[in-house]
Amino acid sequence: MEDQARGLRQLAAQFNSKARTIVITSGKGGVGKTSLAVNLAIALSERGKQVAILDGDLGLANADLLMGVRATYNIKHLVDGQKRVSEIIVHGPKGVKLIPGGSGIPEITNMSEIRVKGIIEALGVLDQYVDFLIIDTGAGISKQVLAFALAADEILVVTTPEPTSLADAYGIIKVVNNGNPQMPINIVVNQADGIEDGKRVFERLEIVCQRFVNKNVGLAGIIPFDYNVSKAIRSQEPIVIGQPTSKAALAINRIAADYLNALEKVEINTNQSQNSKGFKGLLERMARLLR
Ligand SMILES: Nc1ncnc2c1ncn2[C@@H]1O[C@H](COP(=O)(O)OP(=O)(O)OP(=O)(O)O)[C@@H](O)[C@H]1O
Ligand SMILES: [Mg+2]
Repeated sequence: MEDQARGLRQLAAQFNSKARTIVITSGKGGVGKTSLAVNLAIALSERGKQVAILDGDLGLANADLLMGVRATYNIKHLVDGQKRVSEIIVHGPKGVKLIPGGSGIPEITNMSEIRVKGIIEALGVLDQYVDFLIIDTGAGISKQVLAFALAADEILVVTTPEPTSLADAYGIIKVVNNGNPQMPINIVVNQADGIEDGKRVFERLEIVCQRFVNKNVGLAGIIPFDYNVSKAIRSQEPIVIGQPTSKAALAINRIAADYLNALEKVEINTNQSQNSKGFKGLLERMARLLR
């Protein structure tokens, strides 16, 4: 009994990192995940937080382009044992760190246990330095995305007002909820035709989630359709830096501010800090899920 309790305490201590892992995902592709990941990271960083982005879109990694930086090495070099974490990290705007994604990484299921442990240890070092780890994923419900989603502290699901995007958002919520009904899931309605439109879109999704899978989802925020987003991507300067007074940038800043407020309230209300899993906890869980 005593031994078992000690073991559990040790396990909890191991996962109780200060780094909260937020996975950004969507059912449908091209809805604005990467743009949100990059700009939310910068907005949090501007509020005094240490933030890292992991580009978890291993097929079409492009967070570096949106951040206006160039990644020479990426996670594949780390996995292959060619580079250390400090060598693959890219220092982006406002102190945001990027762990670039790369394609052709062998399935975790095909790696030896020792190798997986090595990668977890290497990336786990970052837990000491960051408050938030934002993981941008590819669209859809691949095994990889699901493992990221189920291992996170919380998930942001991005949808646009289009019915196809909403249906696919519900699809991913259903699958995640099946895997872990306790997982906090919040929605970002992107490319909305104003706040009222965004609220209506959220309510439609909220009702479907409650009715069919008995899941309460939260509203993280609404970002209006704004041509400045596409201009910012073309100029490779994140919108919250290049066009901070644009509608989309203001909305993303509001998401960051509301999010930090909500986190503080949770901590005050429950008088205990969140049991964040950090990088190490996230990767341990992923490895277990994928095996
Ligand atoms: N709020 C917005 N207003 C107008 N256009 C937007 C907005 N958000 C995103 N976009 C457009 O959507 C495109 C896709 O954005 P982004 O690359 O961030 O999506 P994604 O979900 O990461 O895509 P993928 O699934 O391919 O990874 C951008 O090129 C941009 O032009
Ligand atoms: Mg993307």
